[in-house]
Amino acid sequence: MTPPKSNPIQYDLKTGYPDTAALVPHEKLAASAQQLILSDAATQYAGDLFGPISAREQIAQFLTNNTTQAAQPDQLVLTAGAIAATDIVCRAVTQPGDVVVVENPTFFYMMNILRMSHITLAAAPMTPQGIDLDALAELVAQYGPRLKMVYTIPSYHNPTGINATPENRRRLVEMAHEHDFKIVEDTTYQWLYFDSPPPPLCRHYDQQGGVVISIGSFSKTIMPSLRLGWIWADSIEQARQLVAFKGDAAASALTAGMVGSFIGQGYYEAQLEHARSHYGERCAALVTALHETLPEWVEWQAPEGGYFVWLTLPEDLQAETVLRISQARGADFMPGRASFLNGAEDRYLRLCFTVMEPEHLRAGAAIIADSIRAARG
Ligand SMILES: Cc1ncc(COP(=O)(O)O)c(C=O)c1O
Repeated sequence: MTPPKSNPIQYDLKTGYPDTAALVPHEKLAASAQQLILSDAATQYAGDLFGPISAREQIAQFLTNNTTQAAQPDQLVLTAGAIAATDIVCRAVTQPGDVVVVENPTFFYMMNILRMSHITLAAAPMTPQGIDLDALAELVAQYGPRLKMVYTIPSYHNPTGINATPENRRRLVEMAHEHDFKIVEDTTYQWLYFDSPPPPLCRHYDQQGGVVISIGSFSKTIMPSLRLGWIWADSIEQARQLVAFKGDAAASALTAGMVGSFIGQGYYEAQLEHARSHYGERCAALVTALHETLPEWVEWQAPEGGYFVWLTLPEDLQAETVLRISQARGADFMPGRASFLNGAEDRYLRLCFTVMEPEHLRAGAAIIADSIRAARG
């Protein structure tokens, strides 16, 4: 008999997925899917391109209760996740040849999605306060009216974990008004804080209105296979314009119905509480292990929410070298270079704390810390 293939990676700090075994409300979702299918209530094409109104009403209520603004159901367009939402908005607000600015680094996969609109991608570095607004001003000067959109992850940024400060958000909104570009704010991690909530969404700072489009997702808080997210347009008129760019017809009536009833029955607030405490515990385990094991010349900050810890190596070290050693010892992480437009320096490691149990996070952190030391020789 051939022995089972063993996976040499025992400690996965690479994959940025939710812990579905612990997080997914299996029974509740299954009961609601069964009810929606057996009653024939969610078996048809959704019909409404915006997504079923009952689900939009519930999501609008959630946003109204959990942000500083009232959301209207007709401002919402339900999508196959935040990625599809960004794709729709980008195709709607840009023409081929226009410029879209991302943070450097950013969510690596989103760069591929944005490029599908045949735009030119440009990047402004991240600072500890959020997107580098001086660098953005230079891009504005360089590209002028071709610069149509900035994609930002203001809260618990992927991959750095940074929270943009209120001042950074406010000034970004002002710049969008001054230079006539749209801000697409990705709120995927907004409600995954461990102690206190992050600053309000960018749209909070848009007193005049008109420049911020928020997108969101249930992937990291309920279940990624729902493939359900939303666009929260600035106005009902703007939602009507955006919906014309939907390439998948309407969102799934089934998963929209499941999420709508989940929120409607009051389960989502408890679900978020559960996710916050579950991931908060894992984050604390990783942070403690990193404090104990990392050399002091590695720079990093403990995140206050989200999914990731971001490490910066000294200039003489390469993440790729660390990765080879670490993988051979059974621990994996994502080299940060993939998250930069045009590659950039190879000095960064993204560690995800959501997939592994605390004891495995501790073991993985110790291997990665040792591998960093070994790479320096
Ligand atoms: C910033 C950000 N946006 C969006 C997504 C994915 O969202 P969805 O599954 O809703 O398309 C991720 C997942 O990694 C992410 O980190």
